[in-house]
Amino acid sequence: MAEPPESYRINDEPDQVRREQDRLRMLSRVADGRTHRALTDVGIAPGWHCCDIGSGAGLIAAWMADQVGPSGRVVSLDVDTRFQAPSAGVIEVRTVDVTCDSIGDNEFDVVHARAVLQHLAQREAVLDSMIRAAKPGGWVVVSDVDWIQYDAQPVPEPFGTLSRVLRELSSSQHGYDGTWGRMLVGALGARGLSDVNGRGEVWTMRGGTDSAEWYVAALDRALDVVPAEVFPPGFDPRAAIAQAREPEFAILSPISVTAWGRKPGR
Ligand SMILES: C[S@@+](CC[C@H](N)C(=O)[O-])C[C@H]1O[C@@H](n2cnc3c(N)ncnc32)[C@H](O)[C@@H]1O
Repeated sequence: MAEPPESYRINDEPDQVRREQDRLRMLSRVADGRTHRALTDVGIAPGWHCCDIGSGAGLIAAWMADQVGPSGRVVSLDVDTRFQAPSAGVIEVRTVDVTCDSIGDNEFDVVHARAVLQHLAQREAVLDSMIRAAKPGGWVVVSDVDWIQYDAQPVPEPFGTLSRVLRELSSSQHGYDGTWGRMLVGALGARGLSDVNGRGEVWTMRGGTDSAEWYVAALDRALDVVPAEVFPPGFDPRAAIAQAREPEFAILSPISVTAWGRKPGR
């Protein structure tokens, strides 16, 4: 079985597993509408063969299965498949590390990844593997956030510091790229895909609701392993988490960019 990379490693404590499962379901409630729209735009239809990489809770794979019907096929790949239901019907769940294992070869009508590539230092190579896995004429759909305008707003303190420090740590230690969202359309075009398109969306992140918790819960979990010395002296990271859970807390989200393009040939 492929080992999760350090930045994604969740231990086997039932509480940790449950918290991550809850968080992935929150992310799904916040983001699925946008993803369904993009996959619908590229024409997902009965009989299609689809692949979702870094599929998390498996909810996009389940939605794909509804769209493709019994004559279709859905491959749901993740390095850590504990948070999704096992293979059933047209869905095949595979434990795969996309940074070193093949995704496939000329076999899918659509290959999709949401909130995965920007976390991986090998994102450019993984994007190449996604394109390799698409059929000639098939689609590659990628979604990641960009922090450019989040950082331009006055994020309240202490949450602003918590958010900045943990993002910088993730970039320096794990290869996270908070600028990857703005690169997506260009990265697809540079690889020779046709019909390249994309859109970006921003929403209000409100304290204590899914709209903010998909992110705040990840920072909360990170605090279990991050040493106190990464913060300025006297900084209380737990107070920052509590602030972002207050009902009056409201900031703009990062831009969620979804981009797609079509592999040449048919
Ligand atoms: C932020 S979650 C996003 C989950 C899902 N795509 C969604 O948007 O709801 C990132 C997912 O990528 C998976 N992942 C991270 N590194 C991976 C790798 N090298 N190979 C396969 N999956 C990976 C994680 O296990 C996790 O499920």
